[in-house]
Amino acid sequence: MCGIIGITGKRPVYTLITDTLKRLEYRGYDSAGLATTSQGRIDLWRAQGKLHNLEALIARSHEPPPGTCGIGHTRWATHGRPTENNAHPHISDNVAVVHNGIIENFRTLKSQLEKKGVHFTSETDSEVIVHTIDHHLKQGDSPLRATQKTLACLEGAFAIVILFREHPTMLIGARRGSPLAIGISEDTEEMYLSSDAIALAPFTQKICYLEEGDHAVITPHQFTLYNANNKKVERAFTLTATSGAISGKGEFPHYMLKEIYEQPAVVGETLETFIDSLKRTITMPSIGTIFGQSTTCRLIACGTSYYAAQVARILLERYAHISVHCDYASEFRYRDPMLRDGQPCLFISQSGETADTLAAMRLVRQHKKGKKNPCIALVNVAESSLARESDHFIVTHAGPEIGVASTKAFTTQLAALSCLTLALADHRGTLPQATIQTLANALIEVPTRINQILKQADAIKDIAHDLAKAHHVMYLGRDSLYPIALEGALKLKEIAYIHAHAHAAGEMKHGPIALIDETMPSIILAPPSAVQVKTLSNMAEIASRGGPIILISDARAIKKSAPQHAFAMPEVHDFTNPILYTIPIQLLAYHTAVSLGTDVDQPKNLAKAVTVE
Ligand code: F6R
Repeated sequence: MCGIIGITGKRPVYTLITDTLKRLEYRGYDSAGLATTSQGRIDLWRAQGKLHNLEALIARSHEPPPGTCGIGHTRWATHGRPTENNAHPHISDNVAVVHNGIIENFRTLKSQLEKKGVHFTSETDSEVIVHTIDHHLKQGDSPLRATQKTLACLEGAFAIVILFREHPTMLIGARRGSPLAIGISEDTEEMYLSSDAIALAPFTQKICYLEEGDHAVITPHQFTLYNANNKKVERAFTLTATSGAISGKGEFPHYMLKEIYEQPAVVGETLETFIDSLKRTITMPSIGTIFGQSTTCRLIACGTSYYAAQVARILLERYAHISVHCDYASEFRYRDPMLRDGQPCLFISQSGETADTLAAMRLVRQHKKGKKNPCIALVNVAESSLARESDHFIVTHAGPEIGVASTKAFTTQLAALSCLTLALADHRGTLPQATIQTLANALIEVPTRINQILKQADAIKDIAHDLAKAHHVMYLGRDSLYPIALEGALKLKEIAYIHAHAHAAGEMKHGPIALIDETMPSIILAPPSAVQVKTLSNMAEIASRGGPIILISDARAIKKSAPQHAFAMPEVHDFTNPILYTIPIQLLAYHTAVSLGTDVDQPKNLAKAVTVE
């Protein structure tokens, strides 16, 4: 959730740190801070709120931080309110620490330290790390040994970077449960530690991801890695592909809008990796072998990725005749799930770092009964923890998504899952080749169709203007459009702060219809399909009770039903409707949020990668 960075080099690092924090701010924006060390002291700067408050604070100072070694943090509050005192880095006499994650046993450690006379200045769990290291340093331990002793007593999931007052060129980083990467720049004689390779992209592409339990000591020219048993280890450096990512918002007012408009390109790129456009065949190497004769599978994810799983369930059951069970990762991990022998488990996560999804995968890995359950990850980050811990991973090509509300990451997940469906239908012989080719063809057309929808985006602005007046909104859809209704409601809640709820259209009359009145608009997703007529009947039931309607459907259905507001969609094969109907619900949430003047890219209380439970 929080973004962390450490830099050690030859030039003053504070502007490098604040620039890096700009790229990390999407991970959390409750407060920001940095610390550098020089001349035997630690300089600390922290500010509540967004990063620009920290920058303004430093700009007002006559003496900006001089150190050539420093750490920085952008926070998403877990323990303790988002105040300046709770902002990171936390410091003691000898060390400063930035921390991402949660220290579960902090209360025990805090009371032990308090008994030794340590005075705490924040409400955070993180401060115990600082004082524990400091305690060991004061007992005469080296920075490495003090860190190792501290790591041994910490429980929870975390990544930390530590700065030492008396060692002004050295940083130590440790990873347990939350990602941490080392970057090396040979040109500038600098070394970095960060929670996120994106943050390092302008400095270097040469990255090494720490493995679970690893810790590393870095100086401008050198690094040494240790594993969880404190043994020196070698880890491979890779050239990360994220360098092109830092392209800013361009002509767009928000990252979210830019990312919505990137969808034709990134969905196209994702499809291209799986579809041979000449033969209309699907290539997903190894997927057939992994699934073998299995007729069931589990899909596990959180949030928007969970809605992608729900769409996939419908597609896999319909076209590949695989019986699918979907789970929220946060529920799955605590409810003793009954896994069938050898049943494949697919974990969907754009970041590949979501704590619950990762924990759910680890749970499946520990499941020792019967034949092993293969773990497959669908991620947008090939180097992510979920990908690295899986037996097999599939990568979407959305590129970095900076807007906190997921847009292009979701549609690329849907594109990849549609290809997976066809690959498994082919493997299992549930569809004739001609049908696979027709469906592959429908997928190949998706980027063009998305462009067509985006060209009419202005029509959505007018609808959004009216929607912004609502306090409650209902979304309805059936079949593969029901999860898209859920996604629409989530987007509106997230960025416009309007209460929205989604229902399977057929469920409406079993309760939610009681809410209908002239103040609560209903957004109906009704593409031409076997169930369109049913959804339109549900819509009529709402209209006859005075509920305002926003219909997203084909031109013919719109003409027949004459709702208050409508958005006409291209008519395509039903297989691709979930991807295409996502575009208007994203635009609707976006323009409603803009009408209300909310912070679209960094909505309140949220953060991008949910690396804590
Ligand atoms: C909503 C959103 C979240 C994420 C969820 C899972 O716009 O982005 O609901 O989908 O936090 O994240 P990943 O896919 O990274 O596991």
